[in-house]
Amino acid sequence: MLKDQDRIFTNLYGMHDRTLAGAKARGHWDGTAGLIQKGRDWIVQQMKDSGLRGRGGAGFPTGLKWSFMPKESDGRPAYLVVNADESEPGTCKDREIMRHDPHTLVEGCLIASFAMNANACYIYIRGEYIREKEALQNAIDEAYDAGLLGKNAAGSDWDFDLYLHHGAGAYICGEETALLESLEGKKGMPRMKPPFPAGAGLYGCPTTVNNVESIAVVPTILRRGPDWFSSFGRANNAGTKLFAISGHVNAPCVVEEAMSISFEELIDRHCGGIRGGWDNLKAVIPGGSSVPCLPGKIMKEDCIMDFDWLREQRSGLGTAAVIVMDNDTDIIKAIWRLSKFYKHESCGQCTPCREGTGWMMRVMDRLVTGEAEVEEIDMLLDVTKQVEGHTICALGDAAAWPIQGLIRNFRDEIEDRIKHKRTGRVSAVAAE
Ligand SMILES: Cc1cc2nc3c(=O)[nH]c(=O)nc-3n(C[C@H](O)[C@H](O)[C@H](O)COP(=O)(O)O)c2cc1C
Ligand code: SF4
Repeated sequence: MLKDQDRIFTNLYGMHDRTLAGAKARGHWDGTAGLIQKGRDWIVQQMKDSGLRGRGGAGFPTGLKWSFMPKESDGRPAYLVVNADESEPGTCKDREIMRHDPHTLVEGCLIASFAMNANACYIYIRGEYIREKEALQNAIDEAYDAGLLGKNAAGSDWDFDLYLHHGAGAYICGEETALLESLEGKKGMPRMKPPFPAGAGLYGCPTTVNNVESIAVVPTILRRGPDWFSSFGRANNAGTKLFAISGHVNAPCVVEEAMSISFEELIDRHCGGIRGGWDNLKAVIPGGSSVPCLPGKIMKEDCIMDFDWLREQRSGLGTAAVIVMDNDTDIIKAIWRLSKFYKHESCGQCTPCREGTGWMMRVMDRLVTGEAEVEEIDMLLDVTKQVEGHTICALGDAAAWPIQGLIRNFRDEIEDRIKHKRTGRVSAVAAE
């Protein structure tokens, strides 16, 4: 288990003082100017050496991403944009940082922006996060008052402004290009890449978009060193990580743990076990609603919670939002609910996503009640393949993957329901 002294987020549960004074007492804002004065190349190299992979879902190496930003300015300003949209069902980790430990993020914004030659940073926060916005704005105001932001921020000789922008509440605005459009005051619709944000992002200027957690861990990594950070987790899966565990566990929680922890340890140590015991585990969505679910049997046996292991099982770590389902779950209905979500959140620009999400949801409607033909299961699978990889942004993939996971792992259950419906024996749960 991760030791308390190795936790980056020491006020995740809001038990301590979240003000600047409290944050300083816990070691934040310590020697910030000294870190900045070591220079951009040093910071970027430290981040590369730490092995940090982006915490927003895709797991792209953070230091490498920063190195794509132009080294010299061509006259255009550069920006860091922090993605605090956090709208993926099951995902609720960034909110704990913002409402309880906001100074980790504020300090991270300053250091990361300096490393990318950005004098300004925007945090784009989800529309529904009202209290989180207030807590974060308070932290920003405190930091300005204390001279940690603004001209000569924290005595570093670097002028830096930090703005908090409140979204209107749309899942698609978490996709980085849609987020930038929305920040510019336009409709939040993704755009084709290239150009990538590092070349032409916010207002056509070099921009890096990073997740809240990716930025909030930066100051501690630099203070404690990349070797310390990479000492947690397996190779290529370094660091500590926030896991958000929900569903049928005895005590759902958000917890910081070492990457590559086993699923069993994560659940037994922090969540009081599976509701009704381990034999009652049916399925797990290990990384937020867009990654395919895995059967309980796989999760019970030596499951390693990291990017590579879960990828090998044809799922993913995603945002590390772990959704646990026990044997009482109607898994077909659970995945149907996600299909409904993705259909609702599609921005509608690409035909495969606009039409496909509705089409998939309507077939899922019928699989839930069993009023379908067995052949339709393969037809549905085929449609998911036609959506996957054929759209402007990854929402199309996110809509396809949960259904693929369902069919791959629970085909028998779908078929049984169809057959039972024919013989008039559809289960009470499905008929609800
Ligand atoms: C539909 C959609 C929604 C997304 N929502 C979020 C989100 O809420 N927060 C987030 O950090 N990344 C989200 N992402 C991923 C971002 O596009 C981007 O990859 C991420 O912010 C990069 O940060 P990182 O490199 O620090 O992981 C979303 C992607 C898609 C396709
Ligand atoms: S994949 Fe869907 S959400 Fe993404 S741009 Fe296309 S229509 Fe919009």
